[in-house]
Amino acid sequence: MSTQVDDFLERVEAAVGSDAAPAERIACAAAVLHEQAADSDELEPLLPVLSSHFATTDAMPAKARRRAGAFYTPAELVAFMLDHTLDPWMETPARGLPTVLDPACGSGRFLLAAGARLAIAHRQRFGGSESAAWRGIGPKLIGFDSDPLATAWLSGRISALAGGDPEAAIGVHTIDALHDDALPAHSADIIVGNPPFGTPLRRRTDAESLRRRAAVLAGAPIGPYADIASIFLLLAGKSLRSGGRMTLVQPLSVLAARDTQSIRDAVLKDCEPTFGWSTNARIFDAQVHVCAVGFYKRLIGDPAPVRRFGDLPPTEYTPSRRPGIGHSWAALASPACSVPDPPPFEQLGTLGDIAHATADFRDQYYGLLPALVETPDPIPSGVAPVVTTGGLDVAQCLWGERAMRLHKQSWHRPGVTLSSLEPSMQDWAASRLVPKVMLPTQTRILEPVLDIDGQWLPSVPIISVTAAAERLSEVAALLACPLVSLLALHRYLGTARSPSAIKLAARDVLALPAPPHQELWHRAATAFTAATHAGDDASRKASLCESARLMHQAFGLGEEVSESILAWWLQRRH
Ligand SMILES: C[S@@+](CC[C@H](N)C(=O)[O-])C[C@H]1O[C@@H](n2cnc3c(N)ncnc32)[C@H](O)[C@@H]1O
Repeated sequence: MSTQVDDFLERVEAAVGSDAAPAERIACAAAVLHEQAADSDELEPLLPVLSSHFATTDAMPAKARRRAGAFYTPAELVAFMLDHTLDPWMETPARGLPTVLDPACGSGRFLLAAGARLAIAHRQRFGGSESAAWRGIGPKLIGFDSDPLATAWLSGRISALAGGDPEAAIGVHTIDALHDDALPAHSADIIVGNPPFGTPLRRRTDAESLRRRAAVLAGAPIGPYADIASIFLLLAGKSLRSGGRMTLVQPLSVLAARDTQSIRDAVLKDCEPTFGWSTNARIFDAQVHVCAVGFYKRLIGDPAPVRRFGDLPPTEYTPSRRPGIGHSWAALASPACSVPDPPPFEQLGTLGDIAHATADFRDQYYGLLPALVETPDPIPSGVAPVVTTGGLDVAQCLWGERAMRLHKQSWHRPGVTLSSLEPSMQDWAASRLVPKVMLPTQTRILEPVLDIDGQWLPSVPIISVTAAAERLSEVAALLACPLVSLLALHRYLGTARSPSAIKLAARDVLALPAPPHQELWHRAATAFTAATHAGDDASRKASLCESARLMHQAFGLGEEVSESILAWWLQRRH
């Protein structure tokens, strides 16, 4: 592979000379690729690598590739997405052949595969040769990409398929698709693709103006961490014609992230989701979990259930209800990520009705550093033990029993000498050394630990949840309830580092549901307290199971459902 890249770079170098300006080198490389595309596919998978060599003179090629988000889509996923986007359009015989748009087309994997299907239909309708068919359908293929080498290759390919007619590739543009002249200025019947992923904050200097423009289209502000792929989704949704269909690959986080809620809502106002697809496998070189969501731009009609698929070749799961405005779309991908659908349950308010939750950030994390010590035994007065996420398990603090990592170091009994903290950190420590429930994030299930004496100092990213003393164990029992873990995982799917982890912000914790049956909740809390004081794993597990069953009854779950969620939770616990 690297020999082919080196050969190509040498060829360009030889043609333009080593002193050539970058623009001249790129133009030469584009011309070579345009010509080569007629004869061979060989360089196609290498295009992102080739382009990254031309991106800038100083950037590392691998970095340039990541910045451009250039990871092409495997053929099997392309075919699956077209089956559910292009084919339903083609199944209506009276319709003409559609215009197909890929807003970040790269080498045109979607457009060429769609073109092949359109060329067959064209020949069935009008007869003629294959190249005549490509001359007919070529102009219906619209591709945008900011990478001039990718577009050169694609237009070379389309022209070649059309018997060398450059007019067939008239729809391929080297352009920033987020620019005003591209999306939503162009419209199409079918939109398919895999736009670049990443936070616009890190990738673009014009992130702020981009977000403002997108916010106008969404009709609501867009969060600063909204993935750039979701902005493509929003703009592409506006480019889709009525009666048209769209499927875009997205990072899994777009389905549930708070910063993309206004984008999800804006898309839902115009479009009906038709299917969702995801996989636990990492199918791109990029280390991101992905999904694809299909849409139909509605004319009229009741929303149909949304089909759900996973993996490749795809498995189909039971459909889900259409997601509502203001909600996560995680249900579209949850079965593919091995997360069961939550059952219906009874609710009376939220945890926020009885509790407060606070998260700490980098100031507190770094603020601890100058005062960190290995704590002597017994703990001297003026030293507070520090607990990390790794030192917590459901109903159990393993401080002193399990080594913990803090500030890139392993500690057996990490603590801080309170008098060595900065004054503001001393105030912070005083506010944390109170009775509370400690809740780590990025865990497979919620793992609340009751700190009834207020003796532990939580380190980032543990959330501290406080409540009236008599209700603290109820808070812990609720957070340890398997149904609540399932709801949290489901609601915020894909927003943690791994799709199998739960990441909650303090306000998400407070939005968790509270059960209506107070007496059962109270008994569950007593069982959770027993788990906290258990002397061994077996009795801790027995008390936690008792607490879980009582919580499930408090939420109105039947026995069968309760047992199946408890089994799911127990299996995730280890
Ligand atoms: C994930 S690749 C997908 C390419 C192709 N659609 C596929 O699925 O194989 C994303 C593409 O987006 C392009 N890209 C990145 N930023 C862009 C922008 N602002 N406008 C248009 N294309 C962009 C990259 O050059 C890259 O080719």
